[in-house]
Amino acid sequence: MASKKPEAFYRVEDGIAIITLNYPPLNALHPLLLRSLFDQLRRAHSDPTVQAVVLTGANNNFCAGFDINQFQNPDAGAGGGIDNTINDSICEVLEGGAKPTVAAIQGVALGGGLEVAMGCNARIATPGTRLGLPELQLGIIPGFGGTQRLPRLVGLAKAAEMMLTSTPIKAEAGLKLGLVDAVVPAEQLLPAARALARDIAAGRKPRLYSLTRTDKLPALGEALATIEMARAEANRRARGLRHPQLCLDAIQAGIERGGAAGLAAEGAAFAAAASLPTHKALVHIFFAQRSTKKVKGVTDVPGLKPRPIRCVAVLGGGLMGSGIATALVLAGVEVILKEVNQGFLDAGMGRIKANLQSRVKKGAMTSEAAAKALSLVTGALDYSGFGAADMVIEAVIEDIGLKQRIFADLEKSCRPDCILSTNTSTIDIDLVGAKMQGGPTGPAASRLLGAHFFSPAHVMPLLEIVRTSRTSPQVLLDTLALSSRIKKTPVVVGNCTGFAVNRVFFPYTMSAVLLADLGLDPYRIDTVVAGKFGMPMGPFRLNDLVGSDIGLHVGANFVTSFPERVYVSRLIPLLNEAKRLGEKTGKGFYKFDSKTRKASPDPELAPLLAESRKAAGLVQPGAKPPALTDADILDFIFFPVVNEGCRVVAEGIVDKAADMDVASVMAMGFPAVKGGLIFWADLVGAQRIVARLRQFAAMVGPTHAGFFKPCEYLVAAAESGRKLSAGPPAAAKL
Ligand code: COA
Repeated sequence: MASKKPEAFYRVEDGIAIITLNYPPLNALHPLLLRSLFDQLRRAHSDPTVQAVVLTGANNNFCAGFDINQFQNPDAGAGGGIDNTINDSICEVLEGGAKPTVAAIQGVALGGGLEVAMGCNARIATPGTRLGLPELQLGIIPGFGGTQRLPRLVGLAKAAEMMLTSTPIKAEAGLKLGLVDAVVPAEQLLPAARALARDIAAGRKPRLYSLTRTDKLPALGEALATIEMARAEANRRARGLRHPQLCLDAIQAGIERGGAAGLAAEGAAFAAAASLPTHKALVHIFFAQRSTKKVKGVTDVPGLKPRPIRCVAVLGGGLMGSGIATALVLAGVEVILKEVNQGFLDAGMGRIKANLQSRVKKGAMTSEAAAKALSLVTGALDYSGFGAADMVIEAVIEDIGLKQRIFADLEKSCRPDCILSTNTSTIDIDLVGAKMQGGPTGPAASRLLGAHFFSPAHVMPLLEIVRTSRTSPQVLLDTLALSSRIKKTPVVVGNCTGFAVNRVFFPYTMSAVLLADLGLDPYRIDTVVAGKFGMPMGPFRLNDLVGSDIGLHVGANFVTSFPERVYVSRLIPLLNEAKRLGEKTGKGFYKFDSKTRKASPDPELAPLLAESRKAAGLVQPGAKPPALTDADILDFIFFPVVNEGCRVVAEGIVDKAADMDVASVMAMGFPAVKGGLIFWADLVGAQRIVARLRQFAAMVGPTHAGFFKPCEYLVAAAESGRKLSAGPPAAAKL
């Protein structure tokens, strides 16, 4: 069974053919596996010693769906060359062939995996098995009859919800809904499936056909109303994206005209979705997200294994520290939470408790599990217990002097193999370690790194792991393993001001402020950036979320580090002076309702805008602002962001351009449906980006032209036609 080849194994036990899907690690449906499954099914049907078939999976899994690699295979054709005729035939044979079939499911049955299982006449699963149709998250729709069979098994509303949210359910919930017929422990899976298959073959249990069932479907009028509601909800959530509507088209066709007509509609809708750019972008993000875990010189070093991190000391119980501690205890990691006095420590503990309780309220964990997680935290007011720590994460305020003192103390208080990390969002890591023995070249330098979480740390999915020139591969590997354990997507980045994420954030904010100083309405800018482009919120609303004080503080680092390409405005300082710090003071660019916290435009902002515009002197007093269309606004804001992203790639701050895509999607909220910053820039084209940046530079005049100056990497791509996502030429040759 250890074969890596995509094939379905065949054996007969007690008159039951056991067909086992095999393609490590998750038995994804490679076209060869589908062909082999089809052949083995026909073999079972023509084998006179066989009464029934059990379909199962090797590698402790049933199947993770169609092989997504095929979507990127240029030889496979659109939609990964999915051949709906063979797929429909497989399900036809499974469901309606001469002999009944039972699916024996463990691990995951997702996408095509669940679709094949639903084609069987019955399903048995092990506890905790994940069942779902997550195709929409890849920009396609369920195939293999998934859009037809799921509503007939679990009801229309639940099926639409599962497909539109791409969220799997556990086997136990599947049992209640009727998606599976029994849940049994792993060791009983095959015996139970064999027994059920034999019972169905002998007529002791009914043979069910999900494609033609109607008992779970509502009456037509109600069904159409449910689909209309699902359409509206999909539009609200997916901002006018086409493929969720295509999925609903297929479901609707089946409801109106029956399962068989639904299959044909599904095939057409699938082909339409597979030809949309959204699909390419989302598949790119799927693989990019997985490839961040593979880092040259770290994960490919023969014999290098991650060391376990059992106990982490977190310094600082503020918003970040308590969020980090929560993420750790949720994964069963022991935490020592250190604060400077009992009051702060109690407050930090309270925040962790509140984070856990909020998960209990949402039904994400039981109160027993929350209590157990909380019991993993020990409070500390000094370093006496730090000998137990395998890693330290410092999360105090962004004060270089304070951080330097802390790291000098840590070096003395921790074991010599303890990893020393800082959660700084912008400060050079070498500077943080400057007061340790021997500074950035001293003995502790190899175990010093940045562990940059995003707020709220127990929710946000990205972890920037910042390596200095001396951080050892072992320490990076250990931190990568910890990141997987706490369910974060890691991006290993080089050391510089702002690392990868905040490097691309600063031009985002600065270009928006520059537009405001040119006379454009900040609220219009936010509407265009969020509503039209699909960011979770516009730059001014984001300022209010983060806080004008933090924005000013962080921005100052970029002004110091990159003076030739920053736009310095009076606007944010003016907000600070007026104590308009954002949500936390009830006013920023927006005003916030004290009860609902809802943001609305504030007329009182006008004098501050006027003062900032006057100070900027970009337009004559009383003159009209430049007539920029919504599309111009997007170019003005996002092309400087791309420009900085290109610098990050060219400087090797990220290991590969796709890492920048993942970082932009997971920390900045750049729309995944656009494939991430650099992937999107390639779609737009380097030539157009360079030309537009030069136009904007001319528009703002020589004093501010540096902000728009295209970097060498971008210009070279524009001139050569080389893809920005290819990375710098030297790296591409590796
Ligand atoms: N096709 C091809 N490869 C797949 C795959 C698929 N359907 N599903 C998972 N893989 C690969 C991953 O790329 C990864 O490969 P790598 O180790 O070379 O990076 C490996 O299987 C393990 O997957 P990973 O996501 O890292 O493991 P996980 O335990 O965190 O998650 C799943 C497992 C199944 C939940 C997750 O992989 C997933 O969501 N897969 C896609 C499911 C899907 O959308 N199916 C419908 C396809 S049309």
